[in-house]
Amino acid sequence: MQQKREQWSSKIGFIMAAAGSAIGLGNLWKFPYIVGTNGGAVFLIIYIIFLILLGIPILLAEMAIGRSAGKNAVDSCKTINPKFGFVGGIGILGAFLVLSGYGVVGGWVIKYIFKSFSYDNFTSDFFNEYISKPFEPVIWTFIFMALNVLIVTGGVSKGIERVSTVLLPLLLIFLFGLMIYSVTLPGAVDGIKYFLVPDFSGINSFSDISKIAINAMGQVFFSLSLGMGTLITYGSYLPKKSDLVSNTIMVVTLDTAIAIISGFTIIPAVFSFGLEVTGGPGLIFQTLPAVFMNIKGGSFISAIFFTLVLFAAITSAISLLEVIVSWFSDKTGLSRTISSVIAGGAAFLIGIAASLSFGTLSGIKILGMNIFDFLNHAADKVVMPIGGFLMCILVGYIWGIKPASDEISNGGSLRFRLKPLFAAAMKFIAPVLIIIIFISSLF
Ligand code: TRP
Repeated sequence: MQQKREQWSSKIGFIMAAAGSAIGLGNLWKFPYIVGTNGGAVFLIIYIIFLILLGIPILLAEMAIGRSAGKNAVDSCKTINPKFGFVGGIGILGAFLVLSGYGVVGGWVIKYIFKSFSYDNFTSDFFNEYISKPFEPVIWTFIFMALNVLIVTGGVSKGIERVSTVLLPLLLIFLFGLMIYSVTLPGAVDGIKYFLVPDFSGINSFSDISKIAINAMGQVFFSLSLGMGTLITYGSYLPKKSDLVSNTIMVVTLDTAIAIISGFTIIPAVFSFGLEVTGGPGLIFQTLPAVFMNIKGGSFISAIFFTLVLFAAITSAISLLEVIVSWFSDKTGLSRTISSVIAGGAAFLIGIAASLSFGTLSGIKILGMNIFDFLNHAADKVVMPIGGFLMCILVGYIWGIKPASDEISNGGSLRFRLKPLFAAAMKFIAPVLIIIIFISSLF
């Protein structure tokens, strides 16, 4: 007997959960530092172009696949075409890679909630000292992953929706307040310029452009949770009458707004405090404490802020775990609880190696990168683009634009104004762009 598939309890519940998946460390932690290491405004422009040409169409495609088939990522792809189950499979592998690294950064965030209360002697060196420790970061990573498993075990509509619906708006309000503070700091204007006014002087060769392009593409995939079956899985819980296009636009808008607000919070502060904008993964962890130390009652604000970051990270992490669990429990017949523990546990084990790669295991290099960087690189720049590419082929050529558009327009009962963009993106623009960028990044 087929069980009735769980469904989102409301439209806003789905949007909040999908936005909750999209909005996470990718926006708050990664976006500002990637802008910083890729030349500022030039990156921002390319990012926005890719958002329109790749992000929106692929997000729409994934949701359509999921809702049409109503199954986990692998079986949904198989329903479209029996030979294409592996597309979902690649996604599950990718989700696993992302989750392992995600747990490490999630652990740093938890540490900073507590660290908020002892900022008096904070220096920006603290971050590097801390992450290279062999023990403490691993414990926080464990706690992050355990939280994640607990929420996923609670089930789809109950666990995920409830958490997302309340905390996302709160994060938005808080971040907005911080942004206002940050852009009014002395010297902040240089940061605003860096973020908004393109400076082409740093771009001297084809390889400079291709580096920015691959990073921007990877960031679009990462930030919107694309190419890994997350949106297939979430889409499979959507009621047949929901409007996929408006859901997509809503999610992309929210996600981009938070990333840009985060950029406006961090980058001006970096310039104001004389830190290095090219500082990389430590950027928010070195900049924000400096901001908070400057504010009266900053410890308290810092603790609340990092708590909200933690929740944003958790709502993303549950989406990653959900992809794996949904497939694993359908496949093995094991319960959600056991599947969650196994998947979360395995991701934690890889997370240990990733965490130690800043200290004890820093000597281990794969293609010249430490384990953490390698996981990130493999996920953003290899697995996600391949997943996205295959998603386009699956929808553009195997399933076909007509059936896909019928799904998106609910059999013609909704107007699908973006159809020309969608069709062109699926069949030509996105696959070609992905291939060109992917190949050029190999050199
Ligand atoms: N989008 C999330 C972020 O920005 C991370 C994430 C969640 C993700 N689920 C994903 C990335 C699936 C890729 C694929 O933090």
